[in-house]
Amino acid sequence: MKNIAIILSAGSGQRFNDNLPKQYHKINDRMVVEYVIDEVKKSKLIDDVVFVASNFYLAIFLCEQYGMRFVEGGKTRSISIANGLDYIKEHYPNVEKIIVFDSARPFVKSYLISEYMDLLDEYDGVITTCAITDSLGDYENNNINRDNYYLIQAPEAFKFRVIYEYFDRNSSITSMVQQLPVGSNIYQFFDFPNNMKITYHDDLEIARVLMSSKEDDEE
Ligand code: CTP
Ligand code: MG
Repeated sequence: MKNIAIILSAGSGQRFNDNLPKQYHKINDRMVVEYVIDEVKKSKLIDDVVFVASNFYLAIFLCEQYGMRFVEGGKTRSISIANGLDYIKEHYPNVEKIIVFDSARPFVKSYLISEYMDLLDEYDGVITTCAITDSLGDYENNNINRDNYYLIQAPEAFKFRVIYEYFDRNSSITSMVQQLPVGSNIYQFFDFPNNMKITYHDDLEIARVLMSSKEDDEE
């Protein structure tokens, strides 16, 4: 097995603030995370799926239902990622490429997964980037040119040996790519359409509307 997906589904969703973590809430008839699982499973370029989650019945149930490997998550997102990477190191001796998803981003599409995996033939990493369209400020009122910056989102994809060499589970850096050395051979993917993340409760309502209109389009 050469290409492995990690779906990050641990974390308690403090900003969402609900007994049930946000990724297990429903948009129409399916859980947020099921939209991610479906697209990953649809991709012909993914050989196996590692599901990093808190150990409770719903996560275990999903792993059985969708044929994913369960790995226990950690206190921070970086620790959850590192647990997934260690599992891959141990169980997939022939791994070449990995791609890491947030369970809370339900708009991913399998054709994008294929593009990321193909780009890894040429690059060590592929990251999801988003141009800044609002004004950018700092806390001292400096003028900042937003064209010099972009947002980094999930998914992020890497050659396994490269990310495994540099990834530190205790780092305070929140994107994986920034744990690689400056000047690494990285592709910035700006063309991901609508990659919203469920963060607050209101985001779920917005995602429901967007998902319905998208499903209408596809009919
Ligand atoms: N995540 C994880 N392990 C953690 C924290 C987060 O696997 N310890 C995952 C979440 O499941 C989510 C993704 O990382 O799909 C993005 O994180 P975020 O939106 O910050 O989720 P939470 O950390 O759960 O939310 P909050 O920051 O509001 O507490
Ligand atoms: Mg968080």
